Amino acid sequence: MTSIGAPINRTDAWAKVSGAARYSAEHPVEGLAHAVLVTSSIPSGRVLRIIDTAAREVPGVLLVMTPQNAMRLPQETRDGKIQPPVGRRLTLLQEDDVYYNNQPVAVVVADTLEHARDAAARLRVEYEHKPAVLDFDEAKRSLHPPEKVLTESTDTRRGDLQAGLLAGSRRVEAIYHTPIENHNPLETHATIAQWNGDKLTVHDSTQYMKGVQKILSAIFGIPQENVTAICPYVGGGFGSKGSIWSHVPLTAMAARQLGRPVKLSLDRNQMFGPVGQRPVTEQRMRMAAMDDGRMMASSHDTIAYTSMLEDWIEPCGLMTRMMYESPNQETSHRLARMNLGTPTFMRAPGEASGSFALESAMDELAYALNMDPLDLRLKNYTERDPGKELPWSSKSLRQCYEIGAERFGWKDRDPQPRSMRRDGKLVGWGMATATYPTNRSAGQCSATILPDGTALFRSGTQDLGTGTYTVMTQIAADALGLPVERVRFELGDSQMPEAPVSGGSTTVASVGPAVQAAGHALRLKLVGIASADEHSPLSGAHPDEVGVELGELYLLADPGKRTSMLEIATRHQQAHGEPVEVTAKAEPGDASKKYSMHAFGAVFVEVEVDEDLGEIRVPRVVGVYGVGKLMNEKTGYSQLMGGVVWGISLALFEETMIDKRAGRAVNGNLAEYHVPTNADIQSIDVQIVDEDDPHVNPLGAKGIGEIGITGVGAAIANAVYHATGKRVRDLPITLDKVL
Ligand code: MOS
Repeated sequence: MTSIGAPINRTDAWAKVSGAARYSAEHPVEGLAHAVLVTSSIPSGRVLRIIDTAAREVPGVLLVMTPQNAMRLPQETRDGKIQPPVGRRLTLLQEDDVYYNNQPVAVVVADTLEHARDAAARLRVEYEHKPAVLDFDEAKRSLHPPEKVLTESTDTRRGDLQAGLLAGSRRVEAIYHTPIENHNPLETHATIAQWNGDKLTVHDSTQYMKGVQKILSAIFGIPQENVTAICPYVGGGFGSKGSIWSHVPLTAMAARQLGRPVKLSLDRNQMFGPVGQRPVTEQRMRMAAMDDGRMMASSHDTIAYTSMLEDWIEPCGLMTRMMYESPNQETSHRLARMNLGTPTFMRAPGEASGSFALESAMDELAYALNMDPLDLRLKNYTERDPGKELPWSSKSLRQCYEIGAERFGWKDRDPQPRSMRRDGKLVGWGMATATYPTNRSAGQCSATILPDGTALFRSGTQDLGTGTYTVMTQIAADALGLPVERVRFELGDSQMPEAPVSGGSTTVASVGPAVQAAGHALRLKLVGIASADEHSPLSGAHPDEVGVELGELYLLADPGKRTSMLEIATRHQQAHGEPVEVTAKAEPGDASKKYSMHAFGAVFVEVEVDEDLGEIRVPRVVGVYGVGKLMNEKTGYSQLMGGVVWGISLALFEETMIDKRAGRAVNGNLAEYHVPTNADIQSIDVQIVDEDDPHVNPLGAKGIGEIGITGVGAAIANAVYHATGKRVRDLPITLDKVL
């Protein structure tokens, strides 16, 4: 019996389609007051005064919280600034400085949302203006290195880059740009905060409940157990909800000051700045190869913007360090400060943006060598990670290339740009490599048998809409030996056993093994109880002698001797007055020291370009991935397909445009921030290569949340070049760039 991998429907599907699933802003709370976040209208300066006379005249207004009257939080000095002890710089109205447009400057609370909105619109904020850096080229005049790139080194060097560049017979050098992009989950960030004495409960839309709990306890100087974070459903996060932003503690501050529960939802425009975004990047690539395609040198130098408040670097160079054999290589990352909100993780941070530069440059090199782009990649295929100097835990990229090329029909490609036409349009074919690292953290899970014979598993993890509820139910069912219909998996409460952030495509890899361990432990415990019970058919049995099927335990040697898990649990409950319950913890071992662990894939795309109108369409994408074992074929394919859709979006649509005078996003709404609609998406053929990886984690699952977006941007840019002969190195590839 195995339910792992089965394409079962989402266990939370009915709750979602019927509206029973409650998102953070939807929890009914007695006496709830409604807050509106007021943000700055200037990019740099100081709040001199907030005049709230008109706002206070609105009926129902309860609180206008500003830097002048906001409660004082415990403080520490960091980076020469007085800050709440949270490990990063938030805007909690403890100071009056303004560092970017759309930065929180006040919170207005009223009895209804309408009153709060009305009052917020009547606030008058007087500012002292200071010069702002709003032009990336200006910002670039002063660069600084980030301390780290995620957990990796900022810069790397192997061999002798200059010698390698000179040794190659063909060279490419090019600069690639990617724009600011903003996360736009359908559910904007939302928080409900409620105090009971010194105890705080928050309903918060987050990818990391434990993080919300820990940071709020630090900000308010109260014990961690006094904070409960609840989040059973998330309407999308994509990285923006992976860390805590200012509105969360601000809501709790307002609730504290008011002595009443308060709800605050960001409006769509407030998704553009105060809660992170993908930064602008400028990536300089250099490569050299011999006539046969052997790469002699490569370099990848990234400049990205960060805010005036904090350092956050888009880790563009990481993929370049591991993807191809290149004996001589340098990579670097530098930051340029701007008066914009702090950037953050956004689906495949680094790989989504970095693969655009790396895989475009590979295509340019292939043309310089007069070589097929796929052959160039095979020529420089890495059998071990050349950056970390470790073997791969598993790598099926060769099969991905083969299967992808076959399904796409790559061998029929005429490499000559502008050589293919259909219905009066230019047709182009391009390809690229996809990858995303496989990481893992510690996770915990509890398991028990309920009186109705179902098993309840609980872990304080999150379901971002990705299918966590469903796949954890499958893992639990397999480990315990129950059908999935009789297993319930609960998540979304910080009081549940601890789970890590749902980021970096690590939830299955981190929480899955804990769920599996809890299932095994519960089964063992039940066998032990039955074995010790002289009245049980399993009396005296050793665990190895006991089989399980559909919730029944039986003697392997004499299958007639059997008893149900429920019966054992009920008898135990009656005898001892407590349920049979276990809690298990699963932690990564030292596999990451012995192996480099990555998911890999190959993406092939076809584009059609209308030369008169500049319109670019993507009739088909073939993406083939080696991602370890899939936990659920349906939700897994959805994840990969969704990633490819976002890759198309990154290639052709998304760009946050900043007004260079005011520093505000001018398209900060879903009408003008372009994302693909169904009509923009045509055939997406996702295939999986069977992969057995015993090293990544006990489930053999690699993350699938982020790899789908990687490679797609370059594959489309490469196809556009093949179609038109125009090399676009600046995303998104809008019509003006191909006309
Ligand atoms: Mo993902 S960008 O690690 O939430």
